[in-house]
Parts: sequence; C-alpha cells; structure tokens
Amino acid sequence: MSLTVLDHPLAKHYLTVLRDKGTMPEEFRSAARRLCYFLTLEATRDLPVNERPVETPLEATTGFETSKVVAIAVLRAGLGLLDAVIDLIPYVKVGFAGVQRNEETAEPIEYYFKPPDLERATVLVLEPMLATGGSLSWAIGKAKASGASRITALCVVAAPKGVARIEREHPDVRIVVAALDRDLNDHFYIRPGLGDMGDRLFGTT
Ligand code: URA
Repeated sequence: MSLTVLDHPLAKHYLTVLRDKGTMPEEFRSAARRLCYFLTLEATRDLPVNERPVETPLEATTGFETSKVVAIAVLRAGLGLLDAVIDLIPYVKVGFAGVQRNEETAEPIEYYFKPPDLERATVLVLEPMLATGGSLSWAIGKAKASGASRITALCVVAAPKGVARIEREHPDVRIVVAALDRDLNDHFYIRPGLGDMGDRLFGTT
C-alpha cells in the first residue's frame, strides 16, 4: 500500500479551517471542496491518458484525454469531497456507498452500494475520515467485488490504526490524505481530527 500525505501550503490552510471548531457549515463545505482539489490532483497524478489528435487554430498536433474514472462517495461525509472531483475529472462517473458505523464496535453496517461499471476504471473512493478503517475497507471490498482493480482512497484525515488496517486488508490500494493524525479517542474519533465530518458538513451537530 502507498500512503501520500499532502504537503502544500494551501492544503494546510484549508485543513486548518476544517479543524477549527468555530468554522460554520457553509465555510466548512467550501474548505472541504477546496482541499479536495489538492487530493484529486495528487490521486490522479498517474492516471493513464490516451493520445488524440487535435487541431489548434494554427496546425494539427497531438493531444491527450484521460482514461475512465469512477468516484465512489462513502455516505455521508464523502459527499463533501464530491463537487471538486466532479469539477476536475472529465466524464467522471459516480457511485455511492452507504455505511453506518456501530457506535460500540465502530464496525460498518452496510445499507446501500450502487456503483457504475467499474471494469478498467481508475476508482477513487471518497472517505474523508480514515479512523478504524472499517468503512473504507468495506467500501474497497465492495468495489473490488464489482470489478475494480485500480483503487485510490481520498481522505482528509487518517489515524495510524486505519492506515494499518487498509495496509493489511488491501495492500494494493493507494491512500492520499491531507494529514496523518495521532490516534483515536474511546469513541473512535480521530485526534486531533476535526470532529464528525458529516455533522460539520451538514450542520447536524
Ligand atoms: N468519522 C468522523 O466523522 N470523524 C472522526 O474523527 C472519525 C470518524
């Protein structure tokens, strides 16, 4: 498994906005979207491209177009990253993975999984908070069972425990994250983290 931690001043700025407990949902959504542009750029660095001829106003030359990409947003926090992915990636197709976590064990309880065709696609799994790794590992497993083979997870914050689980259960998957944090509290929240991403995105705290 490969882990890439973003190292860019603007990404650090937007992550700090997300961490700040005083940030209200509207600004929080905007910072999540902006931070996700950096995650998307890094996650697509090795995206295969196909050559295609193009006519400039002056002459013919060789251009490029990107290969097939599918994004799978893990509900509901993954929705906070989706706008940037749709904005940047040409012809991206989107699937959704619905999972709730058991508050005592933090293990995932599946309630929905609907991907588009994943054959020969680069698959980006949008799971902002990689805490125990239960939800992400489940979503990756479902994507693989549906035909995905080239998978990158986009995360905002990860805990070492979650990273270790993905490394153990899906060593072929790449993770791109804005920060690798210290640990988890007794309720499986990441520390220092940013709290409950879904609640903060949608104002449900
Ligand atoms: N999910 C969240 O939204 N926040 C955490 O810290 C862990 C899981």
